[in-house]
Amino acid sequence: MGRLYNAGGIRRFLAFVLILSLSFTVTACGGNKSSGSSNNRSNSSNRKESQAQVKADGNVLVAYFTAAENSGVDAVASASYSEVNGEAVGRVRALADMIQAKTGGELFSIQTSVVYPADGGELIDYAQKEQDDNARPELTSHIENLDNYNTIFIGFPTWWYDMPQVLYSFFDEYDFSGKTIIPFNTHNGSRFSGTIDTIKDLEPDADVITDGLTISEHDIPEAEGDVNSWLEGLGY
Ligand SMILES: Cc1cc2nc3c(=O)[nH]c(=O)nc-3n(C[C@H](O)[C@H](O)[C@H](O)COP(=O)(O)O)c2cc1C
Repeated sequence: MGRLYNAGGIRRFLAFVLILSLSFTVTACGGNKSSGSSNNRSNSSNRKESQAQVKADGNVLVAYFTAAENSGVDAVASASYSEVNGEAVGRVRALADMIQAKTGGELFSIQTSVVYPADGGELIDYAQKEQDDNARPELTSHIENLDNYNTIFIGFPTWWYDMPQVLYSFFDEYDFSGKTIIPFNTHNGSRFSGTIDTIKDLEPDADVITDGLTISEHDIPEAEGDVNSWLEGLGY
């Protein structure tokens, strides 16, 4: 994390540490590791509402972005991989696989022409610059037949308290009006941060489920039970 000590980065880093420690405090008090839900701002009443409405008829797409499938290396020792059932996979991909297995949806990897640094420290710096530039990385994978899908799970890591910029490219490319969007996420303390509200702003005519799933990067290998309970709560 030494690379975070660049000009302008210190204040955000301190905020990151603060959020991290708050998260651990909440975890310790609540006894709820990282499981299930959700956006920090969701509450029990909107959770009930969204649970009652979520499962829609029609095909399911499970779209996700993970650094591991966009760094151009197979290095399983990369900081972006998690070991699940003896296999090294990107962390968000691991959650996507679990959601796919339970819902029978189709997987879609959000890919970009940008080759992200495999080195964790370099990636932190790179992503910060992308965010500062409000970049829109070029997408190289595209959803075919979007009309076939009513429900789209969308997974991403938290990067600098936000979605990776490539998710902005993704939401620029598609109009999800009339569809149900179900966010899921991995993080290292910030959970969803404000990303669910951002998705609602970007897709105002979609039904964005606020009861998304957010799992700490450390808990991915053991997340399947939490993923399944969450999906069952949504009607799957
Ligand atoms: C560039 C970058 C920025 C990150 N920023 C945050 C952050 O602001 N808050 C947080 O909780 N975790 C942050 N993390 C941790 C990631 O959200 C976490 O490692 C996630 O599991 C990565 O998923 P992936 O390996 O599938 O891409 C960051 C990681 C990277 C690489």
